[in-house]
Amino acid sequence: MMNGIFDTHAHYDDEQFDSDRAELFASFKNKGVELIMNCATNLNSVKSTLALANENDFIYAAAGLHPEDILDSEESEIEVIKRVALEEKKVKAIGEIGLDYYWKEVPREKQLIFFEKQILLAKELDLPVIVHDREAHEDTLNLIKKYAPKGVMHCFSGSAEMAKEVLKTGMYIGIGGALTFKNAKKILKVADEVPIEKILLETDCPYMAPVPFRGKRNDSSLIKYVAERLGEIKGMSEEEVIDICNKNGRKLFEI
Ligand code: NI
Repeated sequence: MMNGIFDTHAHYDDEQFDSDRAELFASFKNKGVELIMNCATNLNSVKSTLALANENDFIYAAAGLHPEDILDSEESEIEVIKRVALEEKKVKAIGEIGLDYYWKEVPREKQLIFFEKQILLAKELDLPVIVHDREAHEDTLNLIKKYAPKGVMHCFSGSAEMAKEVLKTGMYIGIGGALTFKNAKKILKVADEVPIEKILLETDCPYMAPVPFRGKRNDSSLIKYVAERLGEIKGMSEEEVIDICNKNGRKLFEI
């Protein structure tokens, strides 16, 4: 039997799901959704992510500090992430961590310190990283090459050349709704050139809904539209793509 959808990057603790979270989760089985990695972005969402993971068998947790969420953070928060990752069985990754030079609120120097320290934490704990890179390709790639952590470049927005560099480190490429957008160009080339064995499917929900739901609230069931598009590019069925990418995710996160 084929595996179902593994959404390797979701934010179900977001308030956009407050009104119908339980109903949505209950609907997933019939919609082919099998596994979800919920990614925390700060200490509060580490708590809510763990609550979701501990209440729902099919949800796993990533614990980390997102570059947009560290304006008032102290480095001691990374110690809290470490404690949680050591104590909680469902924590399978350090994330969402990385660099965001699009939002200019948090100084780059601070982002770089938190990113590097969390990569080192992941290496110490032998956990994969889930990396956010927005308009920070060069600095992100430099740190990835320096430490070669296990992990995934989530919502990959770099070039095919950059993807090649990422693959050399052993990391995976995360692909979501952007693949279906009408103006998609770079990501089409990336999807074409990266072997299917190195691709993870993801939503980043509630954001990044694929066509034909672009601009609406995203959820893991809509990954089928991304898989369908990726299947067209790879010459595979939607089901094969979902099956292989599920296996890729289980391998990386040891689920
Ligand atoms: Ni995210």
